[in-house]
Formats: sequence, structure tokens, C-alpha cells
Amino acid sequence: RGKRAFIAGVADDNGYGWAIAKALAAAGAEILVGTWVPALNIFETSLRRGKFDESCKLPDGSLMDIVKVYPLDAVYDCPEDVPEDVKSNKRYAGSSNWTVKEVAETVKNDFGSIDILVHSLANGPEVTKPLLETSRRGYLAAISASSYSYVSLLQHFLPIMNPGGASISLTYIASERAIPGYGGGMSSAKAALESDTRVLAFEAGRKGKIRVNTISAGPLGSRAAKAIGFIEKMIEYSYVNAPLQKELLADEVGNTAAFLVSPLASAITGSTVYVDNGLNTMGLAV
Ligand code: NAI
Repeated sequence: RGKRAFIAGVADDNGYGWAIAKALAAAGAEILVGTWVPALNIFETSLRRGKFDESCKLPDGSLMDIVKVYPLDAVYDCPEDVPEDVKSNKRYAGSSNWTVKEVAETVKNDFGSIDILVHSLANGPEVTKPLLETSRRGYLAAISASSYSYVSLLQHFLPIMNPGGASISLTYIASERAIPGYGGGMSSAKAALESDTRVLAFEAGRKGKIRVNTISAGPLGSRAAKAIGFIEKMIEYSYVNAPLQKELLADEVGNTAAFLVSPLASAITGSTVYVDNGLNTMGLAV
């Protein structure tokens, strides 16, 4: 049978999560997605109304089939963690079973197991603030939504992942080089994510024969990136300075993801893989 993938962090057809879903679907995988609860309604409505039909087209002409959309909020591990004001919030009260533990349980009940786990989500409420002006609360929120969310997902999904499976996340070079503008502790969160990739690769490799890698992607004008405010500048900077002077397509990240979770990458684990037109290798802008 084909492989089954759960992709956390898809809420429209612009981001890396969507492109990864497409690349995996094109390679024959069955696609399940986890969508942030506040974005669920509009995503499902748009899907139903055919707004994404054009972007569902796969290279062979067929359409990507998203088998099921799970509501998810990856900052909560179990129902006991959810504060009252969130529980009673209209958008949250309309869905159920969206904590990480419950989503993993529901996927298990629905399908039994998965082969591929993708984490394509991040959030930093103070991302537009320099680190020097970031509050403790904002910093910890960035780490919670962007780094621990991955630890939690892998923790809860590993027991239902078939041996030989693989997991990936998305990171950004602000983890290892100073990128002014990528604030609020988001640079710290990506550094944690990359370090965790190595430790989780060891632990999940030993425990479940699962590979764990992260893709350090170049700039893409996704919804999340637009919220940061300087994405157009970063895209232009990359175009001017990278070895490959071309637009970076989300599909190029999707294709790398498909490779990394496939048997073609059977000896690659714990790695940070750059998909950025080579920008990370430059030391002098010319
Ligand atoms: P995106 O907006 O398509 O994806 C981010 C997703 O995270 C959204 O669907 C959002 O609803 C979801 N999300 C936020 N908080 C959540 C939570 N608590 N629980 C569940 N879902 C939540 O944007 P993009 O840019 O494709 O982001 C995907 C990943 O790629 C992120 O990890 C991001 O940091 C990374 N990345 C993006 C780059 C860019 O230039 N766009 C560059 C390098 C990495």
C-alpha cells in the first residue's frame, strides 16, 4: 500500500505545508492535514467551494485528495492544558479533539498508523519586535508554538508511526546567523528546533526506526511570512545575493521533503538540509 502522511500546518494553498502535501501526493502518499483551529473554518470552506482546485493539480493531471482535515492547536498537548478562555472561545468551541494527544488518538482510530509526519508551523506573537524588546511571555510563546510543538507532535505520533517512516520540519537560517527583523524569539525557536532535530533523530531512530530531518528553507511569501513584515525584502535580497538567481518555489521545498521522507534518503537523519538557492553559503554580498 502507499504511504500515509500527516502534515501539520496547512491552512491555505500558499505555504510550504501545502507544497509538501502536493509533492507527497504526487509520489503516491495518502494525505491527512492538521489545520490550526482558528483557520479551520475558512480553510474547509475554501476547499469545499473549490477555491483550491487549480492548486490541487498534480503533475500527472490528477487532483490531490486531502483525505481528512484535523483541527489542531499544537500549543496544547492535552485537554487539561487548555485555558478556560480558549475553551469557551467561539472558534475553538466549534471543534473538538484538537490537542496534540487527541489528534494522534483520532488519527490512530481513523487509520491505525502513519508513515510520514510533517511539521510546517510556527508562530511568534512578538516576531516584529527585536529580541532586546521581547517579553518573556512572547519568547516562550514562540518556543512553545514553533519548537516544542514539534517535540510534542513526534512524542504523540511516534507510537503510531510504522518503522522505516520519517519526519521533517521547516526551519530558517535566522537560527544560526543574525537576521534583523526575525524577532520575538523566533530565531531562538528555530535554533531549538534544529538542535532538537539531532536529539530527536537519535531517540526516534533508536526507539522506532524513524528518521528526523529539518529543511532550512529560503524566503517564501506565505501568510505567516507576510505577518513578519519584511518578506519582500528578503526575497529580493536572496535574488540579488544567492548563487542561483531565481525565485524560490514552494514546490522546490516540497520536492526536497518528498525525497527526505522517501527510501532514497534512507541514511539521512538528524540533518538540516538547505533549500534556499544556496544563499546560506554566501559570506559576501556582491
Ligand atoms: P504558513 O502560513 O503557510 O504556515 C504556518 C501554519 O502554521 C499556518 O497554517 C498556521 O495556521 C499554522 N499554525 C500557527 N500556529 C499554530 C498552532 N498553534 N497549531 C497549529 N498550527 C498553527 O507559512 P509558512 O511560511 O509556509 O510556514 C511553514 C513553516 O515554514 C514554518 O515553520 C516557517 O517558520 C517555515 N519557514 C518559512 C519561511 C518563509 O519564508 N515563509 C522560511 C523558512 C522557514
